[in-house]
Amino acid sequence: MCGIVGAIADRDVVPVLIEGLKRLEYRGYDSAGIAIVAEEAVRRVRRTGRVAEMEAAAGAEDFHASLGIGHTRWATHGGVTEGNAHPHISHGELALVHNGIIENHEQQRERLLALGYTFESQTDTEVIAHLIHHYQSQGHDLLVALQHAVKELDGAYAIAVISKRDPQRMVCARMGCPLLVGLGEGENFVASDVSAIVSATRRVIFLEEGDTAELTREQVRVFDASGAEIPRDVHVSDVSLASLELGPYRHFMQKEIHEQPRAIADTIEAIIDRNSFVSAMFGENAEDIFRDIEAVQILACGTSYYAGLTARYWIEAIAGLPCAVDIASEYRYRQVVANPKQLIVTISQSGETLDTMEALKYAKSLGQQRTLSICNVPESAIPRASELVFYTRAGAEIGVASTKAFTTQLVALFVLTCTLAKLHGRLDAEQEAEMLEALRHLPGSVQHALNLEPQIVAWSERFAPKQHALFLGRGVHYPIALEGALKLKEISYIHAEAYPAGELKHGPLALVDAAMPVVVIAPNDKLLEKVKSNIQEVRARGGEMFVFTDQDSHFSESEGVHVIRTPRHVGVLSPIVHAIPVQLLAYHAALARGTDVDKPRNLAKSVTVE
Ligand code: M6R
Repeated sequence: MCGIVGAIADRDVVPVLIEGLKRLEYRGYDSAGIAIVAEEAVRRVRRTGRVAEMEAAAGAEDFHASLGIGHTRWATHGGVTEGNAHPHISHGELALVHNGIIENHEQQRERLLALGYTFESQTDTEVIAHLIHHYQSQGHDLLVALQHAVKELDGAYAIAVISKRDPQRMVCARMGCPLLVGLGEGENFVASDVSAIVSATRRVIFLEEGDTAELTREQVRVFDASGAEIPRDVHVSDVSLASLELGPYRHFMQKEIHEQPRAIADTIEAIIDRNSFVSAMFGENAEDIFRDIEAVQILACGTSYYAGLTARYWIEAIAGLPCAVDIASEYRYRQVVANPKQLIVTISQSGETLDTMEALKYAKSLGQQRTLSICNVPESAIPRASELVFYTRAGAEIGVASTKAFTTQLVALFVLTCTLAKLHGRLDAEQEAEMLEALRHLPGSVQHALNLEPQIVAWSERFAPKQHALFLGRGVHYPIALEGALKLKEISYIHAEAYPAGELKHGPLALVDAAMPVVVIAPNDKLLEKVKSNIQEVRARGGEMFVFTDQDSHFSESEGVHVIRTPRHVGVLSPIVHAIPVQLLAYHAALARGTDVDKPRNLAKSVTVE
């Protein structure tokens, strides 16, 4: 969603701001802007649409300065207009960018109107700019004015502020939304995501909840929620520039689909090296916690939720533990019956998803303190709020449609399953060796599935003109059908739904006719014969079938039944291999329809609002 970048330096920071905003584009946005303090004035340029349009406008207006802030906005309060785009300015003196939502903005607006402030936008953000200006006008310096103002805000925010009254510094604050400070040589930065500043510096301080900070060229000072100056750890980010570049690919989604053998190999590297499922990989206390738990509760959204649904089959069958999986935005408002002996597992690529974070907080507030985060972004909010952590090593995922994050989440969940099974006496040495062997072969099997791309391209051309599609699966492959339908609708805008194949006759069969393509995930597992019967039900109604199956399933092509064979059945890891063809199908169908694959309409990469 929204992105923030800011810089104070001895050089012109405008190119730094523009590059930072371009690196934040992947998060999803609909307008962009920058503000600078130059020659004792605050200047601003904003545009709806792409950063490149705003960049051109900044070039035309000869923008140069050594202090500035920038923002990409994903509209929540107020439409997509230039007037609602950030930065927001108070009294021509102070400029501010904001991520998050201010819940008490209406009350603050009333108060500020009474104080004589006027409003130019429909946003919740503008009140913050005026509030800080109000405190500055009472004689406080910029930092103290910010500290006073944030005390009056309810909601979530990451804020960066510059003022012409104080042209030698920038101040920032964080509550509920990520914000970090980048440390350079004689220059310093602020950003909502390390990718925005990685070409300037890798040394970063992740601000904690309630922190405020003051940046000059030479110094960064951080203050905790009580206002006391506090030392915070400096981290060196290992985000690779290559993972942020497109390279020879047409889209990040295509690149990330093809990176999956490597992403999976990196994620399992430590397990393969140790040749054992070791609980220490999840954190220091993992063994004690894992031994003691009696059940697992998974919380996640979107694709990460489907990873959780897949894991339920593994955790119950292999580890023998009851496992519930909830959509985080539902769980957080349900009257949950708490079980302190339950392991709360959150799954989030970004580690920032607000609903997942709030579900975790709710679970903890009910006395469920054993928490594990499976996440792809080190030091993000959700792992920081969890006792145990397993980082997937997919590398930065830029495409809005999650691909390599999904398959590496599945790998992480499989490792969790085997580790729990071992500690609960359900995995002997021989079985452990079998599971490790299966994992070792997984990157190769995924590569074989990627090699099916030319056949899938041919299928996608038949999909592209369709309005609707059905996806079917059974058992552990049902969540892969769900994921396939989500991928297709998300990037190609073809309406797609997924059902457990056995459920078809209870309603959705009424939708089937010759215009409805039906994708079936049907590997050679114990439910194959059942799926074959379900396929007959569809064929009898004239539906056209597109079946992904494996080499040893003896599935034959016939009129209206098209078959693509994935590699030989890879046993328990089959859902991971079958995620690949549905990703490729969605990607190529979207390509054929000419949609914006990496930035589908209305969607954002990190969903940091409710
Ligand atoms: O960062 P998270 O894994 O918490 O994100 C959850 C969902 O927003 C995300 O998986 C979304 O569904 C993807 N765009 C799907 O491709």
